[in-house]
Amino acid sequence: MSKIVPSRIFPADLQHITAAAKALQQGLLVSFPTETVYGLGGDATNDRAVAAIYEAKGRPSFNPLIVHVGSLSAAAAFADLSPDAVTLARKFWPGPLTLVVPRRRDCRLSLLVSAGMDSVALRVPAHPTAQALLMLAERPLAGPSANQSGRISPTTAQHVEEGLGDKVAMILDGGPCRIGVESTVISLLDATPTLLRPGGISAEEIAGLLGRRVEIAPAVGDIEAGLQGPGRLLSHYAPDRPVRLNAVSAAPGEALLAFGPEVPPAKVMCNLSATGDLNEAAANLFAMLRELDRPDISGIAVMPVPMTGLGIAINDRLNRAAAPG
Ligand code: TXA
Ligand code: MG
Repeated sequence: MSKIVPSRIFPADLQHITAAAKALQQGLLVSFPTETVYGLGGDATNDRAVAAIYEAKGRPSFNPLIVHVGSLSAAAAFADLSPDAVTLARKFWPGPLTLVVPRRRDCRLSLLVSAGMDSVALRVPAHPTAQALLMLAERPLAGPSANQSGRISPTTAQHVEEGLGDKVAMILDGGPCRIGVESTVISLLDATPTLLRPGGISAEEIAGLLGRRVEIAPAVGDIEAGLQGPGRLLSHYAPDRPVRLNAVSAAPGEALLAFGPEVPPAKVMCNLSATGDLNEAAANLFAMLRELDRPDISGIAVMPVPMTGLGIAINDRLNRAAAPG
């Protein structure tokens, strides 16, 4: 006989939004409605919670995630907002627009939401449930679409339950999403704004408001939907020092990026996870790569990481880091 699993779908009333906010503060995942699609939310300042998002989605690589905040001023705490960014935010937030902007130097967001890069994608959702959740959780929420990697984005709580039901503490049911397609993603990192993903807000609208040309990224599409080769549009974080994989030990001058309980001695060393926990390793990956990427070392020797679960995404990123420039 099959076991009856209680549904994790709850009405989006104050009681349940409050419970969801508490779960998020404890590092658990909650699916929440936005006006575009349902998000898979986790505390964007908590590396372990962000690692759990990648794990739940079953993604074979770390692509950066959108961070949801409650307001423009909340966004300004994490990113350097140019005049263009402020103009777009004032017009389209809250709403279906995501801005890719530079992280502030003192940014408290997990590096994993940025896949190690110096930029972050920020959005203020308009859905009242998302707004209430952000206010009660009192933290920014990383929130990719709440589907398994490669599947269609969910627009009802039932879709989320079918795909990710056992991966989340709660699914807040805010009814079907009004817009139903993901937000427009625009990068403001270069002099000319670049549309990375089309959505409800068009490039023409953005160009009109800013009074200048908007570049349309080639092969535009959602990375996740496979329409776009990751790395074509995203410049991935890569250390300056050479990276050597499958290392047994560090050579003189090298720093060691270790994994697991049995570690050879090294002068400069970080351990992704002394217990061999892949979620912990993912949470530490980008911060540790940066820490070891020092001018006084000749290279980074990386011990093997198993190719299971999040290890697949970790190895994908280590392979990229090791690939010649
Ligand atoms: O409507 C939406 O945007 C939904 C709802 C839940 O807010 N979220 C969503 O998130 O679709 P996600 O993580 O599935 O899509 C994020 C998109 C990806 O195409 C990703 O490559 C891009 O934004 N992105 C995120 N951070 C980026 C960055 N730092 N640089 C360039 N692209 C970035
Ligand atoms: Mg998605």
